[in-house]
Amino acid sequence: MHRLNQVLLAMDRLVGADLAGWLAHGGGTGLARALDHPAGVIGVLAEADLRGMGGAGFPTHRKWAFVAAAGGSGGDRYVVCNGNEDEPGTFKDRFLLEHAPHQVIEGALIAATAVGANHVILYVNPHQTEALRTCREAVAQWLDHPLLARLAAQLGGAVTLAVVPSSGLYIGGEETAVVATIEGGFPFPRKKPPYPGQSGIRGAPTLINNTETLAHVPHILREGAAWYRDLGVGAACGTKLYSLSGDVLRPGLYELPMGTTLEDLIFSFGGGMLQGKEFKAVFTGGPSNTLLTKRDLDVPLDFESVRERRSRLGTGAMIVISEGTSIVRKVAEYVQFFADGSCGQCPPCKGGTFQLARLIHRIDTGRGIRADLEALENLCRILPGSGRCGLIDGAVTVVDSSLHTFREEYESHLLGR
Ligand SMILES: Cc1cc2nc3c(=O)[nH]c(=O)nc-3n(C[C@H](O)[C@H](O)[C@H](O)COP(=O)(O)O)c2cc1C
Repeated sequence: MHRLNQVLLAMDRLVGADLAGWLAHGGGTGLARALDHPAGVIGVLAEADLRGMGGAGFPTHRKWAFVAAAGGSGGDRYVVCNGNEDEPGTFKDRFLLEHAPHQVIEGALIAATAVGANHVILYVNPHQTEALRTCREAVAQWLDHPLLARLAAQLGGAVTLAVVPSSGLYIGGEETAVVATIEGGFPFPRKKPPYPGQSGIRGAPTLINNTETLAHVPHILREGAAWYRDLGVGAACGTKLYSLSGDVLRPGLYELPMGTTLEDLIFSFGGGMLQGKEFKAVFTGGPSNTLLTKRDLDVPLDFESVRERRSRLGTGAMIVISEGTSIVRKVAEYVQFFADGSCGQCPPCKGGTFQLARLIHRIDTGRGIRADLEALENLCRILPGSGRCGLIDGAVTVVDSSLHTFREEYESHLLGR
């Protein structure tokens, strides 16, 4: 079993909205270093190999470099911390915003230093009322802090730091929907390019990062890239928050070295399966990825290794299910979530998620026929890539993966079986 390495969740750093408490435990050092050498920040993140924790695992330094280079110099520029978090099984960002908002704010201010942004926004899910409250309190404490004044002086003008509630809808977490919401509209995603990094809020270059991604940044700047790299297992770097839920003895939020195996997470840290239950599968990275099964228990939970098993680490959510739990029922629940969450702009997504949900519900309730299974397979072939954002792809992936791995369960639900 790998050691428990807590960086984000170390007890002395969970100070809620108390800025003095955060500063007393080394907070502010990373931002001060960034302000001393703004041009070096992106290089440090590249060396640390920090990845986006919002789902895609995109290299953070590349996104920052893109925004830093966009739109020439001068004019407005935004950094947005994405705290919408509405996917089933993911509860890491809410925890950070409630218990460690200063780590996140400092990370966002370091980002602003690196890309030259004069507006910093914490975009928070309004259903998470405690997170919204802590963030507002925390922001108020930063407003007259000398480090913020230093950033403003460096940028040659005022810096704004604010909390903006999201719509609380799942789709509102997609990056172009984030932009639309902050501009005051409905969270309709739009076609990319242009990416928000080129043209985001009111046309200005906008850096959007997940809450956890930003929470890692102050520690990397303070302790150095080599220290951060060393925290991971093997070639993997740093730590990761894993949201463990489902039929395990100790569900919860775990910060572990990136690359900890699935087996260690479930059976060592998570205490194993609930009494009398046997492991069946995991919805990895939330409900929108390929299922992992018993033969994948040895997979190191890092972006590359999980991709090699044709799945994705995603947000790090692991929903564990046991033998005796119906895969068809679970998939039906998740597909309904996507169908409800589709914004309706793209007919293939709205109609496609509706059809997927309808067919799986029919099969789940024992009314499905073989042609329904074939219709599901056809939809899985034609729907990917048919929406402006990734919602339809997530819905298709979970259906396709469950059909592939647990086909006999679908068959056994068919009418007359
Ligand atoms: C339907 C949909 C919902 C999303 N919801 C969130 C979310 O709640 N939080 C988040 O950080 N990223 C979410 N994303 C991913 C964002 O579009 C974006 O990639 C992410 O915020 C970038 O941050 P990162 O580079 O730090 O991972 C969502 C994407 C899609 C397609």
